[in-house]
Amino acid sequence: MKEKEIKNLLNKMTLEEKIGQMVQVAGDIFLTDDINVETGPLKNLELSNEQLYQVGSILNVMGAERVKKVQDEYLSKSRLKIPLLFMDDVINGYKIAFPIPIAQGCSWSIDVIKKIAEISAMESNIAGANVNFSPMVDLSRDARWGRVMESIGGEDPYLGQVYGKAIVETYQGKDLKKLGNVASTVKHIAAYGAAEAGRDYNTVDMSEREFRQYYLPAYKAAIEANAEMVMTSFNILNGIPATINRWLIQDLLRKELGFKGIVISDYGAIEETIIHGISEDEKHAALNAINAGVDIDMMSRIYANYLKDLCLESKEIEEKVNESVLRILNLKNKLGLFENPYGNSNIEKEKTYIMSKENLEETKKLVEETFVLLKNKDNILPLNANKKIALIGPYADNTAITGSWSMFSDRKKNTTILEALKRKVKDENLLYSKGTEILRIEEINRILKADGLQTLENKNEKEEEKQMLQQAKNIAKESDIILLALGEHYRQSGEACSRSNIGLPKNQIKLIEELHKLGKPIIMILFNGRPLELSSVERKLDGILEVWFPGTMGAEAIIDVLLGNTNPSGKLTMSFPQNVGQCPIYYNHYNTGRPHNYEGRYLSRYQDIPTKSFYPFGYGLSYSKFEYRNLKLDKTKIKEDEKIKVSFEVENKSDYEGYEIVQMYIKDLFGSVVRPVKELKDFKKIYFKKHEIKKIDFEITLDMLKFWNEKLNFQAEKGEFKVYVGGNSTEVLEEKFVLE
Ligand code: NOJ
Repeated sequence: MKEKEIKNLLNKMTLEEKIGQMVQVAGDIFLTDDINVETGPLKNLELSNEQLYQVGSILNVMGAERVKKVQDEYLSKSRLKIPLLFMDDVINGYKIAFPIPIAQGCSWSIDVIKKIAEISAMESNIAGANVNFSPMVDLSRDARWGRVMESIGGEDPYLGQVYGKAIVETYQGKDLKKLGNVASTVKHIAAYGAAEAGRDYNTVDMSEREFRQYYLPAYKAAIEANAEMVMTSFNILNGIPATINRWLIQDLLRKELGFKGIVISDYGAIEETIIHGISEDEKHAALNAINAGVDIDMMSRIYANYLKDLCLESKEIEEKVNESVLRILNLKNKLGLFENPYGNSNIEKEKTYIMSKENLEETKKLVEETFVLLKNKDNILPLNANKKIALIGPYADNTAITGSWSMFSDRKKNTTILEALKRKVKDENLLYSKGTEILRIEEINRILKADGLQTLENKNEKEEEKQMLQQAKNIAKESDIILLALGEHYRQSGEACSRSNIGLPKNQIKLIEELHKLGKPIIMILFNGRPLELSSVERKLDGILEVWFPGTMGAEAIIDVLLGNTNPSGKLTMSFPQNVGQCPIYYNHYNTGRPHNYEGRYLSRYQDIPTKSFYPFGYGLSYSKFEYRNLKLDKTKIKEDEKIKVSFEVENKSDYEGYEIVQMYIKDLFGSVVRPVKELKDFKKIYFKKHEIKKIDFEITLDMLKFWNEKLNFQAEKGEFKVYVGGNSTEVLEEKFVLE
């Protein structure tokens, strides 16, 4: 449609029809036999059937056939035949479940991130998605927060920027009509990851400098990459819920960042502003949200039921509604929905493309790059396939390894570690025992109950656990090496999955302790959605491979890495704490006046644990051993228009070829405001042959030295800086330079 035709369409719409465009509902209702919103499963929404056939978009209906059914049903009763938009939570893939976002980030590879985005976009687009609700670029410093698993950049603003941009550009391409392209939604605006004490949905209060320096950059990069949509967050930001925060949406997003796309609330978030204690009632909530600039109300009745009166009372509000509707119609137009309401959904292509053999093979390689080798005492890994292995643990023969957001993927079809290992080692070299469940029944039932699911019953839990432990010990005794597949339940991370205890479940710790007594080497394969507290068990383990929730091809990838067919190369994007009391912990912190790097009494420390993290940001081992040396700067003094070339050598001192992720950090030694002890400014992922030596270069530019100064201007200040290079944020070479 031409721009003029869109405007004509807008003019033809009744006020009710316009408001309908600004409402999003879960679309399953259109798939039921008795489509009645007044009595059906959505009755709490308190919409009328007439309003249902005026909504503008649908949440989480996927599959070409289903999408067609919903669209046809809707259009058959819609006066102006404006097609629905289909928006979906494609977080780590559609049918192919990829590693959860925090794991993807640990690849430190834009190519990996782009390839995952490309396959996710193509699979979901063929299945009818017009809009994906990702990337999630919320900076995450607190491992108690369950949603760190969704954070693509972890605790680092630079990673959030480069990854967020890569995903948006890959999803959207140059033409949204093209097969395989979907509109992208950056979320959650803003600073959702800074929820106090890591408790989901909790208060966020921070200085504007802190916000701009750390939290904003990733959202900004995604917006500058032309993301079509942003989603507001549930939290209050400096006293005002993000969803009705005019400074955030109007001043910052629209005016300062020039965001022209659609702002969607998170699920029911407009309504929640009443509970926050700002909106006095539903009508007031609608007024606050439209005034702030929310275009679409996700899953609440607020816009549907109150915007009309507000428009009748005020021309200004009606104008705002017109602007929002125009944005929504424009997106539908960009997607080509007026010409073809089914978009690129295609039943035939679903059969050939989705879960295709080529993509699954490619996926396995991508997954391998997301694993982080945390410990490898005496080079216990790679495994010697001729040794006798006891594979033990609740994740050893478990298909639930795709994480809590992969709701479209069929986890029952996944291969388990046991199955994958059987294909690679001789039968007589492999023994298996479950050892224990993931959680005790009481614990899992608490979670299932909260999710409204059927709870489990087992009166013999104690006895069965005892037997499982005994069996595990028996097979361990007969083996040379113990491979333990442990971790969090997938329902322990994700939305509303904050935890005050971030250790392994007690029953699993007991399993480690009992097996450790046998004196055999133990390697743990760790499944989890957040940095865990490992300090109490680490000493009892010889190897630890962090695999997060690795997705559909996870098991095959794990086995190839364990057997040394692939060299692990991932590095952490979030620091692991010594224990939960240390959260939030992150590498790019400020110095106190009393840092804990010297002996003394009145220091900024905990008396009972080291001040440093357990595993630092950027950390991850490889089967190769890399040595860094000869750091040189081509200049040590620069003017504002000059750059510094940083060069150094890295040697692979091993017989394994593999990737190393080389990292460059900068510290501004003195500023008008306190500057972080280190900030990541660039990185490269480089492949090394056995014993290869490579010269590596980075460039320091003025932009890397800028920060939000005392007057809240984004500028570099003259003076001394340090540059660090290394394979993680703590083991580095350093040099000084001066900006004159
Ligand atoms: C709530 C979550 O916060 C958000 O990330 C998600 O996209 C929406 N629900 C839709 O399911």
